[in-house]
Amino acid sequence: MKTKIIVTGGCGYIGSHTAIELIKNDFDVIILDDLSNSTEKTISRIHKITGVTPTFVKIDLKDPLATSTVFKMHNDAAGVIHFAAHKAVGESVQKPLMYYKNNFYSLLNTLESQSEHGINNFIFSSSATVYGTPNTLPITEDNETQRPFSPYGNTKKIAEEILTDFTKSNDAFSAISLRYFNPIGAHPSGEIGELPNGIPNNLMPYITQTAVGLRDKLMVYGNDYLTKDGTPIRDYIHVVDLAKAHVKAINRLIDHKQQQPLETYNLGTGNGFSVMEVIESFERVSGLKLNYEIVGRREGDVPQLFAATDLAYQKMGWKAELGLDEMIDSAWCWEQKHRKHNTSK
Ligand code: WQD
Repeated sequence: MKTKIIVTGGCGYIGSHTAIELIKNDFDVIILDDLSNSTEKTISRIHKITGVTPTFVKIDLKDPLATSTVFKMHNDAAGVIHFAAHKAVGESVQKPLMYYKNNFYSLLNTLESQSEHGINNFIFSSSATVYGTPNTLPITEDNETQRPFSPYGNTKKIAEEILTDFTKSNDAFSAISLRYFNPIGAHPSGEIGELPNGIPNNLMPYITQTAVGLRDKLMVYGNDYLTKDGTPIRDYIHVVDLAKAHVKAINRLIDHKQQQPLETYNLGTGNGFSVMEVIESFERVSGLKLNYEIVGRREGDVPQLFAATDLAYQKMGWKAELGLDEMIDSAWCWEQKHRKHNTSK
């Protein structure tokens, strides 16, 4: 009998890559998604890659009755991996109430429903944005979190506080919060990848959409930072490495190896790369010259963010294995394949 895991937001970018790694590890995957920022085509793409079609339920987790019903139906699940949330930084600044409502209603209904039906393991999709401008580098998990610049980032910070209180109040319930640095890249098959709605906020999809002719040129937001080449530094991590960390994390809870009611881990490579280094890597990997222009800084950007990654290795035996060129090559392969088939979402 396979161990069942519920993946909320499992049709999304990181959720779908995690579903694939769970299936490869012989888990029975139940995907819940409202398809507000994803497509049901992902289910058939997961089948094409793994030969397995995960159970899919289209659901709005802001609806408490629907959520309780689906968790009752799958009350034999060993745990939940929770990706379901709005995640566009810029949009969250324009529409804060939509972000607080969606991200907190979904989280609270999920926590309440799963514990009501005896599902007591929870993995949370968090973000390095909770650190704000870090006091020290590399950033360790005990680095003081600050009020993130965006409402999106604030939903992640407050969600971790909700998990702290809930796991303290409920001895049976355990959680792990995974703080992603900068996820980029795509599955090596080219069948799934990042599908940003509209104009991408993030660097990697903007680069590949520029190279494939969807965008005129990349705007590089500032080269006057105190970094090696003046452009900001980030810890880019391959989405497949990130997905594998979720398998390690849910197994840690299933095997009752956790040592705290709530554990928190950075998911990064520990290496920082500047925007210019990412552009240079893209040009090396693709053989193309990227059209870009240096413009002013983007509000809210911090100069440097990269992770201390020892804790995830010590406790979960996980570390990132793929390098920047592999990340960028997979992102470029996905963009070309996706555009060639001229697939919509
Ligand atoms: C990276 C670097 C930009 C676009 C955000 C969220 C974080 C996580 C990852 C969800 C920065 C520069 C970007 C462009 C540019 N998201 N850039 N031109 O801001 O580090 O993190 O996405 O979990 O929570 O905060 O990622 O890719 O937007 O930017 O020059 O068109 O690329 O200034 O230095 P960021 P990003």
